[in-house]
Amino acid sequence: MASPEIQDSLLDRRVLLGVSGSIAAYKSALLVRLLRKAGADVQTIMTKDATRFISPLTLGTLSGREVLTDLFPEDSGQSAEDAWTKHVTLGLWADVFVVAPATAQTVAKLAYGFSDSMLTATALSAECPVLVCPAMDRDMYRHPATQSNLERLRALGYTVMPAEHGALASGLVGQGRLPEPASIAEQVTRMIEERDEEEDDFDSPFDFDDDAAFSEPADFRAPPQFGEATQGDTAPDRPGMEDPDLSAPQAAPDAAPDAAPENAASHPDAPSAPSSGDDGWPAATHDSFAGLNVLVTAGPTQEPIDPVRVVTNRSTGTMGYALARAAADRGANVTLVSGPTCLETPPGVHRVDVTTTKEMHAAVQQYADADLVLMAAAVADYTPARMAPSKIKKDDSDELVLRFRRTTDILKSLGEQKRPYQQLVGFALETNDGIANARRKLNEKNLDWIVLNNPLEEGAGFGTTTNRVTLLHRDGYKEELPILSKPEVANVLLDCVAAVRVGAGTSNGASS
Ligand code: CTP
Repeated sequence: MASPEIQDSLLDRRVLLGVSGSIAAYKSALLVRLLRKAGADVQTIMTKDATRFISPLTLGTLSGREVLTDLFPEDSGQSAEDAWTKHVTLGLWADVFVVAPATAQTVAKLAYGFSDSMLTATALSAECPVLVCPAMDRDMYRHPATQSNLERLRALGYTVMPAEHGALASGLVGQGRLPEPASIAEQVTRMIEERDEEEDDFDSPFDFDDDAAFSEPADFRAPPQFGEATQGDTAPDRPGMEDPDLSAPQAAPDAAPDAAPENAASHPDAPSAPSSGDDGWPAATHDSFAGLNVLVTAGPTQEPIDPVRVVTNRSTGTMGYALARAAADRGANVTLVSGPTCLETPPGVHRVDVTTTKEMHAAVQQYADADLVLMAAAVADYTPARMAPSKIKKDDSDELVLRFRRTTDILKSLGEQKRPYQQLVGFALETNDGIANARRKLNEKNLDWIVLNNPLEEGAGFGTTTNRVTLLHRDGYKEELPILSKPEVANVLLDCVAAVRVGAGTSNGASS
């Protein structure tokens, strides 16, 4: 979560984000989100290899600007006039240029001034401060060639954020991890603030006159907004496409993938413009769930003691219903398996009502091949060992003793049969050791995300219209959100899920 200071300093600032081909590319989606939330205008440039790790559609949707990948006009479908000067105008447009992740190859190219891609050519043209955030495997990072390239970048005036130490996707442990997006956003903020201070004392040669000082260069044509037509048809991205004929000698392949490269997320339809919330409901930020099958569970389960009594919990289902609505607003086919609640079915959502954990399990199994499962239901962990066939009458005893047995852990069983394309999201309600317990559940249940909340905190948990949650991703990413309305939490969660749907196909077998 961006701090308030970040948010202030980034408001209306122009950030160029260069993404190169590393498994850490998924974090760039989270970085875009943080920068955008802080009010920055973000233009993303990807290398061709980067598009094998994360879809330009994802980054384009999150940034609201079409992602640039091609230096050569014939590849981008733009007019030569537009395309040939784009790297120059972008270099003048930006307040800061961040390259994150920067692979070993990209670091080497930047260090030696190669200009064989939109990313490297723009770096050469950049008049603004440049931040390089390397990410690669341990041995590549500590190799003297990489270290000397990083040193060279520093000597050229680039700011280099050292890679972090930790578990790498290759299984090795060492330095090579991309810093967390929040740390990168903080560094971006610092660089912008420093630049502002310098500009206060410095009469820049680019300040032609006072009026023009803050305007775009005369020939500047803003990069197209997402969905805005560019000249000619923009060819769909083709993951796995080779770099165009490189003028540079072929360097080592981009940072050795710490995991096999996979095709990027499948969102076959171009996203439509964000819809406006006409009933106070936050507008979906994009419509990129079209064609996805999403299963949401919500509400409590009720475990019968006898025909008139149940054991249940205080869940109202609000969070799960908010998720169902947010996913449907983004175009998903949503099935909502709901325990007993008083809520209305969100528009366009297919609802299946259940009462007990056993029924919920059976219903969920029917949709176990969904692309995305959001398990927000407060499922009973125990059920009476035996339901009395008729109403239990009181007797002379002061006590009633009931025996319970464990229910099936529905989410865990989904984790055990998890499909390769599928994302599983669980919820953890914790009053103590929240992060540790949530991480344990994330691992034990084979989840992608877990949403941690503490019912004892003000504005969180059951029966409230708001929630205060921490989102934890299986790769270690953590985002603490402030108190937000449940619909807002739902939208942020879906943004995060969309951002890291790297390598996912769909249950329809489609992939981009
Ligand atoms: N869950 C489930 N089936 C169960 C119990 C829980 O699918 N029988 C799901 C919930 O929907 C939620 C997550 O698992 O997404 C919560 O995990 P769990 O370990 O059950 O947490 P708690 O219910 O908080 O249990 P504990 O008492 O272990 O903290």
